[in-house]
Amino acid sequence: MKSVVILISGHGSNMQALLDADLPDARIAAVISNQADAPGLEVAQRRAISTRVIPHRNYPDRTAFDAALIEAIDGYCADLVVLAGFMRILTPEFTARYRGRLLNIHPSLLPAYGGLNTHERALADGVKLHGCTVHFVTGELDHGPIVIQAAVPVLADDTQETLAARVLCEEHRIYPQAVRWFCEGRLSLSADGKVRIDHAQRADGALIAPPLESP
Ligand code: GAR
Repeated sequence: MKSVVILISGHGSNMQALLDADLPDARIAAVISNQADAPGLEVAQRRAISTRVIPHRNYPDRTAFDAALIEAIDGYCADLVVLAGFMRILTPEFTARYRGRLLNIHPSLLPAYGGLNTHERALADGVKLHGCTVHFVTGELDHGPIVIQAAVPVLADDTQETLAARVLCEEHRIYPQAVRWFCEGRLSLSADGKVRIDHAQRADGALIAPPLESP
């Protein structure tokens, strides 16, 4: 059984998807937020999961904030730290400490569209496929080794909101899968930065958007 600490900043729908997945090898030890009014905190409390607020504004700099986070996380003896809409950039000290046991979900097909406003930028570029990525976190923002991705078609009449909703649905599917692999001891990051998933199935088929028409 792995001890998992989830960090959130807001709504917490990915956190909820992880709780709903009821992963047999994971014990959600705590949910920590840097925002006191994050709606996700209430969701966790309703499920009797320990919650903690560590407001980044109470600390003079990132290093001091991350040190407080580390103290809290280590207090739960976390095997895995899961960033679920945690909107703070982490220091190299933090990412190095949890190397290979720190996961993030990002709303784009990385390495495209790291950073913010991913759906707006994808629509502006006219891409036909967009999606989401679970990756191990390293010192380079939104560039860590990729674990799993889901692609969705971008529709001609998509708005940022409709596209974001379609991507978020897939986030809720791939994040529990990645955490499940980790907690089963099947997902790891090697010293040379390669992701290993034991006994993963082979993907087949292609997602083509707009779809091909039969001749
Ligand atoms: C999700 O779309 C997640 O991918 C994104 O924030 C949203 C949080 O939603 N994360 C990032 O942009 C991190 N760079 P949630 O609070 O409902 O899970």
